[in-house]
Amino acid sequence: MGTITDMGKDFTRLMEQDRAAVEGYLSRAFAGEPRHADLQEAMEYSLLAGGKRIRPILALETCRLCGGDPDKALPFACAVEMVHTYSLIHDDLPAMDDDGLRRGRPTNHVVYGEATAILAGDALLTAAFEHLTNAELPADRIVKAVQCLSRAAGPAGMVGGQALDMAGEGRALDRRELELLQSLKTGALISAAAVLGCIAAGGTAQQQELVAAYAQALGRAFQVRDDMLDVTSSPEELGKPVGSDRINEKTTFVTALGLDGCAALVEDLTRQAIDAVDGFEVPGFHIWLARSLAVRTK
Ligand code: IPE
Ligand code: IPE
Ligand code: MG
Ligand code: MG
Ligand code: MG
Repeated sequence: MGTITDMGKDFTRLMEQDRAAVEGYLSRAFAGEPRHADLQEAMEYSLLAGGKRIRPILALETCRLCGGDPDKALPFACAVEMVHTYSLIHDDLPAMDDDGLRRGRPTNHVVYGEATAILAGDALLTAAFEHLTNAELPADRIVKAVQCLSRAAGPAGMVGGQALDMAGEGRALDRRELELLQSLKTGALISAAAVLGCIAAGGTAQQQELVAAYAQALGRAFQVRDDMLDVTSSPEELGKPVGSDRINEKTTFVTALGLDGCAALVEDLTRQAIDAVDGFEVPGFHIWLARSLAVRTK
């Protein structure tokens, strides 16, 4: 048993390996496909712009946590990242948050125009489901994965949360409304990432419940931290604008609780996440990930 710092080094290395596998898969995902106008270029512009890749890494490591082979989960993991990237392209559009910087680059619509940015998002969303079906896994697991990702991405998940987010602009939301909004817009996809890893591993219903509880709490903490960074960080560090929530008059956890209240909430949610996976045989990576994300600076 190493020290916490030693273990942190091992987990960082593991995360780098996972990230490299994800980058490799994504960079090949549309190579060799027919190219239409600037659509594929626009898709790859955002997809290959170096996001943190938290969701696919969580999918791969949750597959391992549930006793599966992470290599087999790679198409599932990258499908989540495609849906996530689409959500960011659309989130930045003038009709939504109207932001000009993403992943350290001008946003998709700034470079390619709104029509192409909308289409690039549509195309990434659709392609994600094709990639789910490319996994070399039993057909029943692929069907479960399609159900899981479509539910998490759609009106009962991320898109539903984005609708609440837009409808909430310019008015104060109460704590319950804010919790629902954030657990849908962010928690749903992060939770799906973990559950997809479990499905790829052929995990039990109980395992699936525990990893979903872990990722729901992690996802909520992730969004509270995102709200904090929108106030405390810089565009250079984040690769996206700061102050966007204030300009768009969003109720966030910072406006509701203040920065100290947010820090306490992140701590509490992180503890809930860790408790959910404590019973697994080797939960080390998941515990380390939750602790790292609680103090992330980008
Ligand atoms: C940004 O997600 C949107 C939120 C849900 C807060 P990430 O912070 O994971 O963005 P990337 O993928 O690293 O760019
Ligand atoms: C967006 O939340 C979550 C998505 C579903 C894309 P935010 O609007 O807070 O995300 P950022 O701050 O632009 O990354
Ligand atoms: Mg938004
Ligand atoms: Mg935004
Ligand atoms: Mg934000």
